[in-house]
Amino acid sequence: MRTGHKHGVTVRPARGVDADYVRYLSKEVFQQYGPYDEMLVGWFGSGTAVTLLALMGKRAVGFAMLGRVEPAWDDVQVSELLAVAVEPEKWKLSIGDLLMKEVERWAKGLRVETLVLHTSVDNLPGRKLFEKHGFSALKVKKGFYPEGQDALMMYKNI
Ligand SMILES: CC(C)(COP(=O)(O)OP(=O)(O)OC[C@H]1O[C@@H](n2cnc3c(N)ncnc32)[C@H](O)[C@@H]1OP(=O)(O)O)[C@@H](O)C(=O)NCCC(=O)NCCS
Repeated sequence: MRTGHKHGVTVRPARGVDADYVRYLSKEVFQQYGPYDEMLVGWFGSGTAVTLLALMGKRAVGFAMLGRVEPAWDDVQVSELLAVAVEPEKWKLSIGDLLMKEVERWAKGLRVETLVLHTSVDNLPGRKLFEKHGFSALKVKKGFYPEGQDALMMYKNI
């Protein structure tokens, strides 16, 4: 899909063969929080998550993953943004911005009303990215990650 990205980055839904890429990049950027390569590949293959891949030409440079859409206690349709990740050597090229826009567009298509996410309290780039895209802090969850870090839960009504 054409996106108007300044470096010509495009976004498309991931396919089964992209599981290895999700594993590789998750290991690169999320390993410090726990076995997220295995966890994200598990969600990827679960059939309930939607994964969007960012590409420069034919080369994958990042992904975003949206979890199952579920009604919350007040019947609002909620989905969790499970991950957004960009190749470290491609950081600060607005690829994270593009993935956030596309994942929100996808969520709207699925009639999601509220997006939630967790990010490490210490993850400044992540927190800034989510704030820029309209997410607000909801609460801190102590020891949320397998490696013990605290998470900030954020939400956005879309
Ligand atoms: C967070 C991440 C996805 C950002 O990707 P990116 O492609 O570099 O982000 P962009 O270039 O699109 O920047 C978008 C916004 O993110 C924020 N941001 C990105 N890098 C930042 C940094 N080093 N410090 C502070 N804010 C940062 C800024 O708000 C930026 O907007 P601005 O350029 O107008 O200031 C990337 O750093 C990453 O993959 N990190 C590891 C995985 C992770 O922590 N994911 C988030 C939790 S799931």
